[in-house]
Amino acid sequence: MIPQVPLRRLSALLSQGYAFVSRTCDELGTDAFRTSVAGREVTFLRGAEASGLFYGGQGRFTRSGAVPTFMQHLLQDEGSVQGLDGAAHQHRKAMFRALLTSCDAGTIVDLFAEDFARASTYWAGQDQVVLHDQAELLLTRTALRWAGVPLVGTSVRHRARELSAMVDWIGLLGPGNWAARALRRRTEAWAVGLVRAVRTGELAAPSGSALAVISQFRDTGAELLDEQVAAVELINVLRPIVAVSYFITFAAAALITYPHWQETFASGEETDLSSFVHEVRRYYPFFPAVPGRPTQPVTFAGAELNAGALVVLDLYGTNHHPALWQQPEQFRPERFRDWSGDPHTLIPQGGGDRATDHRCPGEPMTIALMAEAVRQLTRTIRYRVPAQDLSVPLNRAPTLPRERVLLADVRPAGSRQNS
Ligand code: HEM
Repeated sequence: MIPQVPLRRLSALLSQGYAFVSRTCDELGTDAFRTSVAGREVTFLRGAEASGLFYGGQGRFTRSGAVPTFMQHLLQDEGSVQGLDGAAHQHRKAMFRALLTSCDAGTIVDLFAEDFARASTYWAGQDQVVLHDQAELLLTRTALRWAGVPLVGTSVRHRARELSAMVDWIGLLGPGNWAARALRRRTEAWAVGLVRAVRTGELAAPSGSALAVISQFRDTGAELLDEQVAAVELINVLRPIVAVSYFITFAAAALITYPHWQETFASGEETDLSSFVHEVRRYYPFFPAVPGRPTQPVTFAGAELNAGALVVLDLYGTNHHPALWQQPEQFRPERFRDWSGDPHTLIPQGGGDRATDHRCPGEPMTIALMAEAVRQLTRTIRYRVPAQDLSVPLNRAPTLPRERVLLADVRPAGSRQNS
């Protein structure tokens, strides 16, 4: 039985943002409820069983027709891998897997470390920097270099502004969203130009780079991708690399809030580094939920969900589910020391098997970049932490610590202690 929640109550609860699905489920003592939004029935699900249903059977849920148009234009990348199903999805996904899960995670970490060193020299000349904004800029440079995009003739600052706007302004309706879409069209035109130049031989993209691989990739029909779709797939790797800035900002906030971790990693002790990174991805809010539609009738909690029904899997709520995590509202990296690795409990980047379903293929790269950022923040630089509000509002998405993490008097490590 899946309870029905009247819209009256829903509107009151929407102000709870990320916590909305969990609180409603907690009140009802369930992991699922239905409601009607603008005349359309939506079923919200949370928890490991829900993730198993959503991701467990290949092609059981489609993303097609599930994402609101105002978001799809910015984030889901029309014509891209996310909108594909079945054999076409598997074929395109294999390209992303090959690009993103091999030794490239190592390569991008080296590039990131170089760009971090370069950026921190600039920070050292400032009284104070906003870490999130700086991380967006430096990750844009890293993403472009990793993807094989020549920096000569490219304004990293412009590209950073465009790529980050696609994520920063995702929750906005009206003018903010239109402005982000206008920026997106500029990025697409730029990316189409790159793909075209590679295909005509005007630009030599390094062999094996994302630009080369995507430009030359052939779909199931052995045809080159339409140049617009190839451009969209290039953006589909550049934009999320820049978005790792969110998790890096949260990692910095965690180091400031729980200074014993700062001391641990500064000493070179890395035993808990991957646990720390997992806990940052579990605890802090980023992607709230993923919408999908069953391709055939499915059953959850004894109730049938019709083919085509709109279903929303709560990622944040699953990462905070009290049945899956002890004291979920506490930041405790130690919980991951003996974690089983269940693919349906820690799902900030989707659940299930990333080889066969829509789970994020960029997860290993995200984890590697975050771990390197923690090393850099604790060992390469020193800084003063000015008084600031690190609280994270849950009623907007995406969200960040209110002041986006301020660092003052940045200097190379070895000069003075962090304070
Ligand atoms: C910044 C942290 C990231 C978060 C929070 C994140 C989150 C997600 C989520 C929630 C999905 C959708 C899962 C679904 O539809 O069920 C996804 C898919 C995807 N992500 Fe990420 N992601 C991140 C980083 C990355 C990176 C670094 C890359 C590549 C460089 C990447 C590339 C992709 C691609 C290509 C897909 C589509 C996969 C498919 O439909 O099969 N993501 N990601």
